Amino acid sequence: MEFKLTEEQIMLRDAARDFARNELLPGVIERDEKGIYPAEQIAMMGELGFLGMMVDPKYGGGGMDTVSYTLAMEEISKIDASASVVMSVNNSLVCWGLETFGTEEQKQKYLVPLATGEKTGAFCLSEPEAGSDATSQRTTAIDMGDHYIINGTKNWITNGGTADVFLVVAQTHKEKGHHGINAFIVEKGAEGFVPGPKENKMGIRGSDTRSLMFTDVKVPKENRIGEDGFGFKFAMKTLSGGRIGIAAQALGIASGSYELALQYSKERKAFGREISKHQAIAFKLADMATEIEAARMLIHKAAWDKDMHQSYDLSGAMAKYYAAEMAMRVTTEAVQIHGGYGYVKEYHVERLMRDAKITQIYEGTSEIQQIVISRAILRD
Ligand code: CAA
Repeated sequence: MEFKLTEEQIMLRDAARDFARNELLPGVIERDEKGIYPAEQIAMMGELGFLGMMVDPKYGGGGMDTVSYTLAMEEISKIDASASVVMSVNNSLVCWGLETFGTEEQKQKYLVPLATGEKTGAFCLSEPEAGSDATSQRTTAIDMGDHYIINGTKNWITNGGTADVFLVVAQTHKEKGHHGINAFIVEKGAEGFVPGPKENKMGIRGSDTRSLMFTDVKVPKENRIGEDGFGFKFAMKTLSGGRIGIAAQALGIASGSYELALQYSKERKAFGREISKHQAIAFKLADMATEIEAARMLIHKAAWDKDMHQSYDLSGAMAKYYAAEMAMRVTTEAVQIHGGYGYVKEYHVERLMRDAKITQIYEGTSEIQQIVISRAILRD
């Protein structure tokens, strides 16, 4: 068993850390407060290769492994989870989905600009009445011979107002249930395709989340991903990997808040000594460090499973479930350690606590991960 990172992985992690500190930290509080999308920073992330990290270099990607991707996700998320969710969706949902299941033409046309960061993507599965219950798709895609006509509404779409390429899941053969679902590539600006207003969120306020409305949107047949009826499997397989990315995001949010709390505890004095020297605080820090390390191990194991071409449905769900729950606990304690200072924006930890909450909700709530985990262990 080998727990050591390679030299390349360490270099990559350090480069992501430097980028986050130098480019994402300035202005992060203002972007959060005003809900400003980090457009310039995302463009830089594209140029540096953070948006297509695992894509084969022949399609413009970095050709890296999933462990490296989680290391970069953790570092970026320590500073700016709004930027890291853009990175996660682009890498593990959109690029991975297209590279794994797309045709050569789809890869050349759509994957290459997404992997190089020239364009960004969105993954459109959730609907007003189909969130956790993803099989209940109401958006329809009617087969018209050489094209499909899409009608319906998608909800909570990350990058909804900023993406160029949308992977859209819709029902083609209602009578076949989830076997009648398809996934399509829809381009920004397609006639009848309109994004709704930007959501005013509790956390990850810099990321652009919207509903998307489709009215008689014409999509050529060559933009369907996979065989007829493959759409639900496409979504599930893609989300299995996406969950590793969100787990790494939760880990970064937690470890970012822990590092701030650790530092603060060594500087702040109460009752004649640094608060870190009071057991009440020292034990909190011990618990936080232990939980963070446990999440990191689960995440690296799931990423390694994926790199080894082993099943990662279970390990990814466990990693996401544990990391998201842990991030809520750890960020709450980081605020507590900061006392009143933790409750104001300048100290960053209140933002990290708000950002942590979404990791328990998107790409499968904690309860959905419990379903996936319990079904797997009861099946064995
Ligand atoms: N890989 C491949 N196939 C899978 C799969 C996986 N990981 N999980 C399920 N399937 C298949 C099943 O084998 C089954 O196919 P067959 O009938 O051919 O055997 C089919 O999918 C249906 O599976 P279930 O019967 O288990 O379906 P279910 O209705 O009980 O639901 C679920 C399963 C796991 C709960 C699923 O609905 C689910 O994951 N829900 C959560 C959806 C989700 O994560 N949404 C996030 C939105 S995306 C997002 O947040 C992105 C963003 O912008 C940040």
